[in-house]
Amino acid sequence: MATLIMSNPSLAFLPSRLRNSRHCFFEPRGARIFDKLVSAVKARAASSSTAFVETKPPTDPILVEKEASTRENILACPICYELLTSIGNPGISLEFATGSNLQCRTCKKSYSGNGTHLDLTVASGAKDYGEPMPASTELFRFPLVSFLYERGWRQSFSVWGGFPGPEKEFELMKDFLKPVLGGNIVDASCGSGLFSRLFAKSGLFSLVVALDYSENMLQQCYEFVKQEENFPKGSLSLVRADISRLPFVSSSVDAVHAGAALHCWPSPSAAVAEISRVLRPGGVFVATTYILDGPYAFIPLLRTLRQNIREISGSCIFVSERELADLCRACGLVGFTCIRNGPFVMISASKPS
Ligand SMILES: C[S@@+](CC[C@H](N)C(=O)[O-])C[C@H]1O[C@@H](n2cnc3c(N)ncnc32)[C@H](O)[C@@H]1O
Repeated sequence: MATLIMSNPSLAFLPSRLRNSRHCFFEPRGARIFDKLVSAVKARAASSSTAFVETKPPTDPILVEKEASTRENILACPICYELLTSIGNPGISLEFATGSNLQCRTCKKSYSGNGTHLDLTVASGAKDYGEPMPASTELFRFPLVSFLYERGWRQSFSVWGGFPGPEKEFELMKDFLKPVLGGNIVDASCGSGLFSRLFAKSGLFSLVVALDYSENMLQQCYEFVKQEENFPKGSLSLVRADISRLPFVSSSVDAVHAGAALHCWPSPSAAVAEISRVLRPGGVFVATTYILDGPYAFIPLLRTLRQNIREISGSCIFVSERELADLCRACGLVGFTCIRNGPFVMISASKPS
């Protein structure tokens, strides 16, 4: 409980569970790997280009160049958003994390794998410079928090927040993700990778990028994957990055999932704008968070207090579905829909086609 309150100070003042929300979640409203990294984009971003490639001999020099540029069209330098190119190694999946070495042609900066993940934060490689993030981000960087996350912490969301649990959430989100199945998916703020692993094992996506700011969460994800037999390591890559500075080329990603993370982001609008930038036309954003409406709306000074909570913890409290719809719309996403179960909400919106 103490840990819960640390991440959500407002919970200290709230009843443990709210069941009588207006909407129930059963009522919808509303390189191997480097090759895989791009295969979904190849299929989706340019169906004409894919057909073109298939029907021409592989020796055609124009085709080779086209293929090559498509292959590099996902990972981008977080400084300038220009393409990253792979230097003399087969890819960046878990299978190759140690040897991955990418370079930005424009900045000339190199990014390397550290054995578990690829660090694509702007400050990666800095030795003396450090930059603390708000508490809601820093909290998850503690090794103990990463260790506990799937060992009780995440499960507690069902108790206080109406979260249905990973398997059920996965089932619910599959509906929203139908239009982009077979493409690539970024599990943004993946934590220790509970959904990234489900996405990879489901075989529903050509590539899964598990992305988080916490190096310890990524390390934990790596450990979980290592423990699983026959895990499809070739379709999962682990990337450290800030949600407000996503290391992907614009319009290259088919789907972005963000489980229980929107309220932890230092700036939800900067983050959703980034998600909107990287989604391809028709790409889908699906996320879960919680909303303090219904009976919570009667908490005195809730709207005022949440500003203070935000300033102290960095955590954002949403008080209405309209806020989330507005956030998506303001960031260029359309077709907002959501599913509720008490405070729990799963939202989805798309990049206009
Ligand atoms: C509550 S956990 C959610 C983990 C997982 N997605 C889930 O559904 O349980 C929130 C995650 O957001 C990540 N996070 C917080 N701030 C971030 C930022 N600025 N950039 C990327 N990830 C961030 C944390 O490291 C943490 O892993």
